[in-house]
Amino acid sequence: MYKILTEQDFIFKNTNANTPEKGNITWKTPSNIALVKYWGKREPQLPENPSISFTLDACFTLTTLEFDKSDNDESIDFDIFFEGEKKETFKPKIATFFKRIQKYVPFITAYKFTINSRNSFPHSSGIASSASGMSALALCVMSLEKQINPTITGDYFNKKASFLARLGSGSASRSIEGELVVWGKHDDFNESSDLYGIKYPTEIHKNFKNYHDTILLVDKGEKQVSSTVGHNLMHQHPFAKQRFAQAHENLSKLNTILQNGNLKEFITIVESEALTLHAMMLTSNPYFILMKPNTLEIINKIWDFRATTNSSVCFTLDAGANVHILFPEKEAEIINKFIVNELLQFCQNGQYICDGVGFGAKQIKNI
Ligand code: PMV
Repeated sequence: MYKILTEQDFIFKNTNANTPEKGNITWKTPSNIALVKYWGKREPQLPENPSISFTLDACFTLTTLEFDKSDNDESIDFDIFFEGEKKETFKPKIATFFKRIQKYVPFITAYKFTINSRNSFPHSSGIASSASGMSALALCVMSLEKQINPTITGDYFNKKASFLARLGSGSASRSIEGELVVWGKHDDFNESSDLYGIKYPTEIHKNFKNYHDTILLVDKGEKQVSSTVGHNLMHQHPFAKQRFAQAHENLSKLNTILQNGNLKEFITIVESEALTLHAMMLTSNPYFILMKPNTLEIINKIWDFRATTNSSVCFTLDAGANVHILFPEKEAEIINKFIVNELLQFCQNGQYICDGVGFGAKQIKNI
């Protein structure tokens, strides 16, 4: 039996509920890396195609939400501190997020919030922090809802957290659970929805257990084109329709591969998805390039290495110049050597992050 939740299911209805006076909630939530990419959306933050991602582990955001009842009943009152410093520049994005979720969690207007957040990865590393950041905040708000209404189930909690996170940043909907999350309606997955991400429902082949993702920091500069702008350019894009259809096909193929463990086919889908994402950028109007020369150097080195060693190492890319090197646990030793000896030369200041597949967000008990 499965149930697909609708937008209406996420509206908090218990208006007589007892709201706690004050307290604080902390969540540690991971980043994620898409294997089939989400690129193109429609209002309100709904994906034009389904996507699937590995949940990461070492790249995470730690967020504490302090809440204190306030008389100010209309607006959402909050301060945000990032790595100990008050951050006025982060306020507009979070204010927009709170406004978008207010309909579903109306109790938030009863509080003054203080948000304290930090990332495990360098802020200016070019690693998108919106997925882990927005999912952390969404989970904190859901824990507050759970205090007000303790009867909600774990399944509802996760789905609504993903639903709320999506309204902050699309890919954040995939940062609640692990090891793989599907977001967006797809025929192979009965429970899938455009509204929230679901845990990949089938046991994955052992080849994909403890999969590694070493992130090579090629360029830590500010992106010239934000992902919001990039998504919007898919509206008039000449290849959009084919791209969305291709994502459906690739997710079907990957679904089979994740169960049969075929690493060669995994590589073909994952690398094609990464290059297609960037091909969409290259063919947008206006067009833009987020890869850097060293992104291509790394890709070519990986292809050379594979040609000579028959390794299963492959790459994927986000909307940026950094390269995610994906490889199975059983090849970790030899590929780590290859990375150190041949790839680190292309990283900015030699910087990289050793990450791997993780199991999702965790609430941290406050002392
Ligand atoms: O969540 P957003 O709006 O920052 O979009 C991210 C899109 C990609 O990272 C490029 C692909 C994906 O599916 O994560």
